[in-house]
Parts: sequence; structure tokens; C-alpha cells
Amino acid sequence: MKYLHEIKLKGRVALVTGAARGIGRACCLALAEAGANIAVGLRDINSDSGLIDELKELGVEVLPLQLDVSVMQQIEEAVEKAATHFGKIDILVNNAGIAPDNLIEDYTEEDFDKTIAVNLKGTFFISQAVGKHMIKQNFGRIINLSSQAGFIALPTESVYCMTKAGIAHLTKCFATEWAPYNINVNAVAPTFIETPGTESWLNNPEFKTNVLSKILLNKIGQPIDVASAVAYLASPAGDMITGSTMMIDGGWTIV
Ligand code: NAI
Repeated sequence: MKYLHEIKLKGRVALVTGAARGIGRACCLALAEAGANIAVGLRDINSDSGLIDELKELGVEVLPLQLDVSVMQQIEEAVEKAATHFGKIDILVNNAGIAPDNLIEDYTEEDFDKTIAVNLKGTFFISQAVGKHMIKQNFGRIINLSSQAGFIALPTESVYCMTKAGIAHLTKCFATEWAPYNINVNAVAPTFIETPGTESWLNNPEFKTNVLSKILLNKIGQPIDVASAVAYLASPAGDMITGSTMMIDGGWTIV
């Protein structure tokens, strides 16, 4: 009898959005390290920052995709291309996200619409498009990027916070409707992770000190911390987990 589910994904196909850098890039590499073939969703297919070569070196099959998640036509085309190329899509990581910050009294309609379009609408409609294939194959794993910002209020991040809270709840809705098709839908909610997206914030010593004072484990997260949780949820180890949002926040939100 075996007592440990494996975190191995050989033979699986994963589609990751916003893959060029940061957490998305780390998710691609982690899933490939576990053996999965990767459909690499890129906002600009011509700027993968060497990721495609790095993935190929891990010995998996790789398909770069033009995929701006805020453009419906690109969603449809990219998902069809991936499904046709690999014959299936087993794992979807909804990673693409943006966070234009501003005081509530100054927030613009343009930034509001853009943030909703990428973080919420993009996540919903890619999941819908990929989910159609998962339903047919009676298997799927979807992992959404929420954030601790969906559980606590961060000043100047009201719209971002709202979308990430929405992601956590949307995760439960998808998990409920698609459980009969053996599709597990979960989210991860990281604290501050060192990525190009947070670089300018964390380069401010005062800001960083304040962040560290709130993370009980007293360290900034790394992309591997998130990617490892994503690989876990995508693997057989996550078989019985659905509808949950896993906090990866070093304890920030528990006090
Ligand atoms: P990042 O800013 O370093 O990278 C974001 C990636 O998303 C880029 O590759 C960018 O090209 C892509 N992207 C942006 N708009 C897109 C669009 N319309 N279509 C397709 N791709 C698009 O971000 P980071 O830090 O790696 O974050 C990734 C995800 O994790 C985001 O959803 C973010 O909200 C979430 N997150 C990040 C945290 C952090 O501290 N880094 C903490 C909590 C959540």
C-alpha cells in the first residue's frame, strides 16, 4: 500500500497564462519539472524571455501561445490551438494579473475596467474555454491566482483587492459546478512575492520593512513558494481538494 501521493505530472498538459515572468514563469518551470508538457500563454508571443528554451531543456513538449487574456478572440484561438496540438488540456493556471494602484478618490474608470478585464473576466472565460475540454475528458485541475489582498484591505489597491476576493469566490463556484466532471478548482493566495511586478515596491526600504513586520515568518516569498503549491494542487496529491484557497502568506492574514 502506498501512503504518499506523488507530485508527478508526466503525460499531463498544462496551460499557464501570463507566463513570461514572475510567478507564471515559475509555475511553467515547476510543472515541467514534475513532467508536464506546457502550453505557454504569453501576452506577447515574441517576448518569452528565454522561457521556451529553458522548458525544452527540461525535456518536455512546449507550445508558445499568443494569449492576451483580456481579448476573447485570443482566448478562443489559444485554447483551441493547445487542445489540438496536445489532444487535451489537463491543468490550467490562471496566473495573468495586473494591479494598477491608486487612491479610491483618484481611481480611473480605465484602470478599473482593465483590472477587471484581466483579473476576473480573463480568468472566467479562459476557464470556460478550457473547461469545455476538461468536461469532455472528465478530468481537470484549475488553479487560480488569488492573493492575500482578497482577504485583507491594502490601501491604494481597492480594485485589485476586489478582483482577488472575487477570484476566491469564483473558485468555489467553478468547483461546485464542475465537481461532477472530476475537475478540481482551487486558488492560491500569496503575500508579497519577489517578482518583476513587486520589484519597485520592495525596493523601497520603508515599504519592505513594513511588509516584513506583517509577515509572521519574517521573509518575502519567492516564486518557487507559489509554484510548488500550484504543482501540488495539480498533482495526485491534490485529488481530494477542491474549492479551496490556499494562503501562502507567511501568516500575514491570521492575526
Ligand atoms: P508580474 O507583474 O511580475 O507578471 C505578470 C505577468 O502577467 C506578466 O508576464 C504579464 O505579461 C502578464 N500579463 C499581464 N497582463 C496580461 C494580459 N492581459 N494577458 C496575458 N498576460 C498578461 O506578476 P507576478 O508578481 O508574477 O504575479 C502573477 C500573479 O500572481 C498575478 O495574478 C498577481 O496578482 C498574483 N499575485 C502576485 C503576488 C506578488 O507579490 N508577486 C502576490 C499575490 C498574488
